[in-house]
Amino acid sequence: MMPVRVYKQLYRCALEAPDGDMLEIGAAHGAASISLGLGLRDANRPFRLFAIEKCEGGSRDAYGSSEVNRRILEGNVARYDLAGHVEILTVDLSHHEVRQSTEGHIRGPLALILHDADGELYRDFMLFYNLLRPGATVIIDDLPVDQAAYRSSMDSARTRKFVKARIYTDHFVGKGLIEPMFQIRHTLFARKPVNIVRDTQFSQAELNVLRESIAKATNHS
Ligand SMILES: C[S@@+](CC[C@H](N)C(=O)[O-])C[C@H]1O[C@@H](n2cnc3c(N)ncnc32)[C@H](O)[C@@H]1O
Repeated sequence: MMPVRVYKQLYRCALEAPDGDMLEIGAAHGAASISLGLGLRDANRPFRLFAIEKCEGGSRDAYGSSEVNRRILEGNVARYDLAGHVEILTVDLSHHEVRQSTEGHIRGPLALILHDADGELYRDFMLFYNLLRPGATVIIDDLPVDQAAYRSSMDSARTRKFVKARIYTDHFVGKGLIEPMFQIRHTLFARKPVNIVRDTQFSQAELNVLRESIAKATNHS
């Protein structure tokens, strides 16, 4: 869970977003999906939130099988009467073949993306960045606030996720692909610059270099 003020801000972002569907990567049991879905509903516009969630492994194992996790997520979304606004996709984006089916299903232009999954931002920017409309809201969770504190206080899997998110985010900011607006605790609110109207190239070679930096940083943590 993120702090309550992040969920309030997500609601405002969805309420004020330009035209287009939205995408959430890592929906868990739906707290952010509901915040964004309520914003979409209250804006009274005919757009949907695609909520991607693998529903198994990692933190989901504490709740049960993939079916159980999907049912909990669906139930939470339905409780807020948002089934018409939120489309849940049970997809693990780390699986290549599943990823391809998602690519066909989600079409742009997207008005907003929220990334709160496994820190694999480059993988997901490769898939979805070019679907974002210029000026779209880009929200990235799991960014460290204070380097020293997060390294000493978190288990290594969480630390690795934070390091990944930091390195990929710094890369995208450095290349001018996202413009930071503000951060609430670990969550960055940014946007795709309005002047990026052509497709951006992402490459496996660039990803490999970034992965090396991540490996180096996490080995020394
Ligand atoms: C921190 S939780 C998300 C919390 C949620 N955004 C909220 O505010 O309630 C991260 C979620 O990402 C999901 N996830 C991690 N890696 C994923 C992947 N490769 N594909 C799809 N979902 C993934 C996990 O199963 C987990 O439920």
